[in-house]
Order: sequence, then C-alpha cells, then structure tokens
Amino acid sequence: MKTIIEPFRIKMVEPIKLTSREQREQLIEEASFNPFLLRAEDVIIDLLTDSGTSAMSADAWGAMMRGDESYAGARSWYRFRDTVIDIFGFEQVIPTHQGRAAEHILFSVMVQSDSVVPNNTHFDTTRANIEYFGGRAVDLPCVESDDLESDYPFKGNMNIVALEKLIADEGAEHIPLVMVTVTNNSGGGQPVSMANIKEISRISRSAGIPFYIDACRFAENAQFIRRNEPGYEETGAAEIAKEMFAYADGCTMSAKKDSFANIGGFLCTNDAELAHKERNILIMTEGFPTYGGLAGRDLEAIAVGLREVLDEHYLDYRLLSTRYVVRHLHEAGIPVLMPAGGHAVYLDARRFLSHIEPLQYPGQALAVELYLEAGIRSVEIGTVMFGIDAHTGEERPARLDLLRLAIPRRVYTQSHMDYVLEGINLVWERRADVRGLRIVEAPKFLRHFTAKFEHV
Ligand code: F0G
Repeated sequence: MKTIIEPFRIKMVEPIKLTSREQREQLIEEASFNPFLLRAEDVIIDLLTDSGTSAMSADAWGAMMRGDESYAGARSWYRFRDTVIDIFGFEQVIPTHQGRAAEHILFSVMVQSDSVVPNNTHFDTTRANIEYFGGRAVDLPCVESDDLESDYPFKGNMNIVALEKLIADEGAEHIPLVMVTVTNNSGGGQPVSMANIKEISRISRSAGIPFYIDACRFAENAQFIRRNEPGYEETGAAEIAKEMFAYADGCTMSAKKDSFANIGGFLCTNDAELAHKERNILIMTEGFPTYGGLAGRDLEAIAVGLREVLDEHYLDYRLLSTRYVVRHLHEAGIPVLMPAGGHAVYLDARRFLSHIEPLQYPGQALAVELYLEAGIRSVEIGTVMFGIDAHTGEERPARLDLLRLAIPRRVYTQSHMDYVLEGINLVWERRADVRGLRIVEAPKFLRHFTAKFEHV
C-alpha cells in the first residue's frame, strides 16, 4: 500500500474552536502581533512547539494509574531507570522535571568562567545555561547546512574540521565537554549521521574531553540514520540509538519530545563521581534522586513512551508525514528548508517575504499572516529571536529568518496538514501585500516571548 496512514486509532478527542478571520484580526492585535501572547484556545492548529504537546497512548495513561508516589525508592522509579538504562545504555540516571533542568545541573558541575562548549547548534536553553555559568557556547554547524535547498541528508552534522581547530586553539583543558544535538533543532531539525557522531567521539576522547548528546529527538535521528545512512538499512531504531549513545559519555534529555510525555527529562553519565555531585544539586533544586522533579505517574508515562517512540511504523509515519508537508510546499515553489527534518517544517521567511527587510522581521510578519489566514500558530526563528548581539547589545539581522511549524506527535491528522498547506498557499498568493513589523516594547533578554509589535 502506498497510502501512509496514522498508525493509531483515536480514542479521545479535544474540540478545536473555529474562529473567523474578523475575530482573529482582533485577537492578534490584542496579542500585540506576538503569537506567544494568544490564548491557546483561540488557535485552530497549534504548531508553536512539539514539546510537551504530544498525545499519549492508552498504555501510557494506563501506566499513570499505576504510578507509585512513594517519596523514596518507588516502583515507578525503578521502571523508569531500567528503561532508560536499557535504551540509552548509561550507568547513572538522574531524573529531572524537563530538559533544561538536566542542562542546568550538568553545567553547574562542569562549566566555569573560562569554559568553551562546542555543539552542532546549541538550543536556546543550552546556550543560556552555559552562559549563566560564565562559559562560552560555540556553534559548529557543518558547511552543508548553509545551503537551505540542497537535499544533503545529514545537515545536522557538526563541522569536524572546526571542532579540531577549536580544541587546538582553546586547549582541551578549557573544553569541559563537547555536545551534539540530535536532531539539530535550531539548525532546522536536521539529523546527525552515525559517521559524524563517531568522529566527534573519536576526536573528543583522544583529547580527553567527555562527549555528551542532547538527546531530545533521538528516535527521529535514529530513523533518519536507518533510512539514509548506508549500512544501517537493516538495523532497527533501538539498536541504532544504542550505538549512537555508546559513542558518548552521557546525555541530557527532554522527555517532552521523543517520549510523548507532557513533562519530564533526565541526565545520564557513566561517571559515578560526577553523578554523585549532580545528585547533591538535584536534591537541592529538583527532588530526591528517585523522583527528581517528577511524580511517580510521570516516570511511568515516560517509561512507556520511550519504548513506543522506537516503533518503526510510528517513526516512518512521523518522518513521512513531515516530508509530505515539505514536499507539497516545495512543489508549489514556496521557500522551505530542505530536506524535511523530523519534528518541524521551516519556512524561509526571508525569501517568502523578500520585500521585507530583516529588521522589519519577515518571520514574525509571516507568523502573524498565517494566524490571520487560518488560525495557525508558529514561531519565528530569526531576527526577533537572535537579532541582539550578546556582547554589544546592538540589533542586527540574524543569520536566517525562518518560521518554524513544529508538529506535535500523534496529535494532528493528514487533513489538518492539508488545511495548513492551504493556509500557507493563500498567504503565498497575497505575499506582496504583507507588511513588516516594528517592535514597540521588548525586554532585554529572550525578547521573542513577550515583545509587542505594530505594523510599519
Ligand atoms: N534541547 C533541545 C534540542 C530542545 O529542543 C529543547 C526544547 C531543550 C533542549 C530543552 O528542553 O523544554 O524540556 O527544558 N525545545 C522546545 C522547542 C522548547 O520548542 O523546541 P525542555
């Protein structure tokens, strides 16, 4: 059969409130043209993030009822810990309430004021946590990622030459860890190849530097390896994941992504001494080491979700349904980041609205138009988010102006995606009339969350 179906049936539904264009004109104006400031119930299709927004299975909901809420040594903790060890292969598991809490604890014990931490591309919270402890977060994306239109399958890779140069220039003693993010979210949701992971591991280990994986979307990355990297066609995603992590010394994980949970995360390492220090901080900031920042029922849901996410039929459906949207946009001539990533579609807003200069925020303007046209919520990843120079405080265009449409897992069907495609096409047809924006009010840091805009 050629038709790709959602490999699940729907047992419970949430109504979507349908709004008219006139209502949305008023709502987006009240939200100062910032989709973050809308009420979620005023959104028809919510593609703001794939984080914590996925649909859990009947099994996961059932497991939640079994949650053991004992303060110490709960049954749910052991189920969670054993699942994480089985899939990720690390010896020490530290549960946290979400990914950034794992990052905060890891960097609090590893990063100092003269530290430099390389990554293919740091996610905002990873960068912010490194900078909070005085370190410098350096992005080393591969050269192939500069071409938004090529079909190179592993644009999430790290630039290996740049990594070797960074270690030579800074000295291994100033690099407490090397990280790689799978898939590379801030770099367009693109996967990292096993060959690249192997190389990063070899270089880091020969310099005596621990190598960590930011594992949020590890299952999607594993399936990309299976489908696109020679030699892995016959290997299952679980086995590929195990191999990926075998090259690493630890990982941070947000269970809000590739385990379908609404909350949760963890930190892993093979270093018992390091884990001891991390647990001391965990007790102060998150909770006792057998629950971290989570309830027993959350630990259960994550344990179930981590196994479900490695199902190959689910993963094929996931990658193919994102590719379906990207393919239709590309065929319509709409500028979209190629090839399709796993969790999101990235429109190239700078080319989509080529008459709007970067400092009038084409990504933000496109987000506003998609909401007006079809009630779709998306997020700008461009000059609003990254336009302030961290050193000078000056505003300048970001490297790219993208609009991310992140797809929650198992939440929307193909007809929802057809609706999204129609909405984007309608904006594309009237793109010449779209106006840029200016900021009327914004905080100094992380301004994209709360900035207020008006049309120029
Ligand atoms: N690392 C990556 C690659 C992420 O995408 C995120 C979150 C985190 C770490 C932090 O995890 O949210 O559980 O604290 N990304 C979400 C997003 C918020 O929309 O891309 P968290």
